Amino acid sequence: MDIPWWRDAVVYEIYVRSFADASGDGVGDLPGIRERLPYLKELGVDAIWLTPFYPSPMADGGYDVADYRDVDPLFGTLGDFEALVGDAHEVGLRVIVDIVPNHSSDRHPWFRQGLRDRYVFADEPNNWQSTFGGPAWTRVADGSWYLHLFAPEQPDFNWRNPAVHEEFLDILRFWLDRGVDGFRIDVAMGLYKAEGLPDVKDQSFKSHSPVWGQPEVHGVYRAWRKVLDSYPGERMAVGEVWTDSAGDLARYVRPDELQQSFNFAWLLAPWSAQAFKKVIDDTLAAVPFATWVLSNHDVVRHRTRYATADPGTGLMRAKAALLTMLALPGSVYLYQGEELGLPEVEDLPPEARQDPVFARSKGKIPGRDGCRVPLPWTTGSRSFGFSSDGVAPWLPQPAGFAELSAERQSGDPDSTLEFYRRALSCRRDLVRSIPYALEWLASPEGALFFTRGLLTCAINCGTDPVRLPPHTAVLLTSGPLDGDRLPPDTAAWLSG
Ligand code: NOJ
Repeated sequence: MDIPWWRDAVVYEIYVRSFADASGDGVGDLPGIRERLPYLKELGVDAIWLTPFYPSPMADGGYDVADYRDVDPLFGTLGDFEALVGDAHEVGLRVIVDIVPNHSSDRHPWFRQGLRDRYVFADEPNNWQSTFGGPAWTRVADGSWYLHLFAPEQPDFNWRNPAVHEEFLDILRFWLDRGVDGFRIDVAMGLYKAEGLPDVKDQSFKSHSPVWGQPEVHGVYRAWRKVLDSYPGERMAVGEVWTDSAGDLARYVRPDELQQSFNFAWLLAPWSAQAFKKVIDDTLAAVPFATWVLSNHDVVRHRTRYATADPGTGLMRAKAALLTMLALPGSVYLYQGEELGLPEVEDLPPEARQDPVFARSKGKIPGRDGCRVPLPWTTGSRSFGFSSDGVAPWLPQPAGFAELSAERQSGDPDSTLEFYRRALSCRRDLVRSIPYALEWLASPEGALFFTRGLLTCAINCGTDPVRLPPHTAVLLTSGPLDGDRLPPDTAAWLSG
């Protein structure tokens, strides 16, 4: 069997608003991405995933889509999109776009025109809560209520109406015709809600819930798969599926459904060899094609998640986790800025925060702005090269971003950026010549050793150095070794 491109791909998530701003309005855009394609190529990724760039009132950073077939002027034009796809393909980068099928913006023409049968309306609300806080229902002028599992500006579609189904098949074709290589499906376990909309005791992302993961959703992905397969070039889809069980995840990743699903268990695992091993075992047992992700635009950056009182630990662990993730079978999703070792920006002033989670929780929950701060490209200028000289970025960057900028790190062998470049290049050389399957090797407590043919990976999550497993050469390490011992918070790639 030919191995599809996405099986071992490294995909780089671009949060479009925060990547690079070519227009000089303080917000990232498609031409900005186009200018930075050489950087991405040099980094060594295989594909980019673009977060929503569609016309949107930006009540949820673009995940409130008002028109599924265009580009918001804030981000450019459809022509800019086509030029970006053309240039990306030219340099050998695939392009994945976000599709948001669970809800639209309340500014979408269907909602504005009052086409209620396409949304979830009820005479009385049930007890469901919005993921962003507060009730999941908003009342309209005639006294009825509509459902929004996210912000009130994001009404949920009624997927029991075939018109919704048809519309999304057509939207997929619209972007496939423009050359996209795949889709990242937002809230992929949403879409259908249990008949009768029963009250719930617990609304968290669970495999058996009236709110999430109804069986009917799989019919949607089977139909989408047929559309994807009707195009040449191995077009694919990856689902954003939050669930408490790897078995449930596997229901989305099937030969006639999605090629991939995000595996958030990896991202949620604490810094522990035992926890990492369990996630790896559960994932590989459950899905034919695994994916791994440490950070994205919705969670606290992993450098900060792994931090301890010792200031150096967060970055050391982040690099060790990266090396481990890149050695695992399957594909990897990176989040912009992790290659620079960016931390979460935790001290954004309240007036700068834009995530609806912050406002809806009355400031109790900081929200997701801290991982969305625009990237530092250079050491100078008001926005560290993110935007034009003198222009303020849409979220303020901390002064420390100068030191972490791509310009400062490029060419410095000790930098996080050069470490990422080396790791991605080494992985690219190896990945197609090693077996997909992983074998565990015996390891001391607190450490994990596994091998895939020519490549052995060792990570030490414990507190004492451990002796490296047998090897002929050290290929790469996330930090200095101590002779033939692997220090705590460090990982190494070894050859057999
Ligand atoms: C998941 C997206 O990643 C997140 O940013 C968004 O707020 C929700 N889905 C709702 O669309």
